[in-house]
Amino acid sequence: MRFKLIYMDNGATTKIDENVLKSMMPYFTEKYANPSSSHSFGQDAKDAVDKARGRIAKAIGADEHEIFFTSGGTESNNWALKGLAFAAMNAGKIDASGKKIKSGEHKNHIITTKIEHKSILNVCEWLKENAGFETTYLDVDKDGFVNPEDIKKAITKKTLLVSIIHGNNEVGTIQDIETIGNICKNAGVLFHTDVCQSFTKTLVDVQKQNIDLLTLNAHKVHGPKGIGALFIRKGVEVMDWQQGGNHEKGMRSGTENVHGIVGFGEAVKIAMKDVNKNVKHMILLRDKLIKVIMDNVENVKLNGYYKEGNSDKRLCNNVNFSFLAIEGESLGGYLDQKFVCSSTGSACNARNLEPSYVLKAMELTDEEANGSLRLTLSKFNTEEEIDYVAKTIPKIVEKLRHISPIGKVVNYFKKK
Ligand SMILES: Cc1ncc(COP(=O)(O)O)c(C=O)c1O
Repeated sequence: MRFKLIYMDNGATTKIDENVLKSMMPYFTEKYANPSSSHSFGQDAKDAVDKARGRIAKAIGADEHEIFFTSGGTESNNWALKGLAFAAMNAGKIDASGKKIKSGEHKNHIITTKIEHKSILNVCEWLKENAGFETTYLDVDKDGFVNPEDIKKAITKKTLLVSIIHGNNEVGTIQDIETIGNICKNAGVLFHTDVCQSFTKTLVDVQKQNIDLLTLNAHKVHGPKGIGALFIRKGVEVMDWQQGGNHEKGMRSGTENVHGIVGFGEAVKIAMKDVNKNVKHMILLRDKLIKVIMDNVENVKLNGYYKEGNSDKRLCNNVNFSFLAIEGESLGGYLDQKFVCSSTGSACNARNLEPSYVLKAMELTDEEANGSLRLTLSKFNTEEEIDYVAKTIPKIVEKLRHISPIGKVVNYFKKK
């Protein structure tokens, strides 16, 4: 019997790096001052916040004045969309290029995709109900890619913003955000992207990729939970998010989460230092897992784009299979009993038994979507763990198919 936990749910969250934790501890114990306090003790805390801000800015090619700390990816996405919408409505007065417009004639159209994180999709719905905004939800192809030409076609005079996720949390597809950023720039439309999953796994550069707003969080990069950031390009009009003591240059008031910010900065420093080594390691494990499962299990399908060795179009840590004739939930449950953490759908939807909307948008049948299992890796996974999981999954699949009435006619399905 194996008792060591094998954690392959890094798309949901990651283990905090020991050195990140170490960097945070003094801000609970010895250096606990409020960064707004004027004494030197407070100044030390402020310096730590500024240092972290600088590290995060550098990692995405931004200026430190363009980084605003938030409580995580969900808040950053909410702020980006609502902050822009309300700035456009209220100021009524300027469009994305800074041109004066009459009140009531503001831009009120957003373009996004059907495979965004819920913290984008639900905000678009909210903006429709509460602020009269319209959203175009673009289709994706069978691999999960949005066609940049579709974005071009969807842009109208009323379009304020294009918001497209970079690395998809379920299937790992990485969108061509450089092309999308260029389209937006040429059309005079703002571009926001959520890079929570792709950050430190593939290139993110706000200059090269023409990004106006960008969402980050720490807990997907071996940092602490409850801390994130929003990049807002200098000059872009976004409404202030929380009012109070004028923290974060008056844009998001509230005493800074100093230990969280320090941990976020340290996590980014560590990740950027070893980015090539870590990505190479994860690609090796990902490709091995995919090969062994595809070679040893009948009637299984890999969801999302895949090319061996590639980490520009599929996240280096993402594997998502559909095992026909079984439920992904059951497979995940059996794996749990073997101390392997996996997921079906994204963690945020894990308690929702509807087939994944991301997989449905990629034209999977309900049955294929329900048979899906996501395994997401990190730098901490080992080849030994991959071997164990790759050996265990075929046995569980066989067992589940044996007891399932549909499984008995499994050969009905053609191997894809
Ligand atoms: C792509 C993406 N965006 C946003 C979020 C939400 O981030 P947080 O958990 O920090 O609120 C997640 C995490 O599940 C995510 O994967």
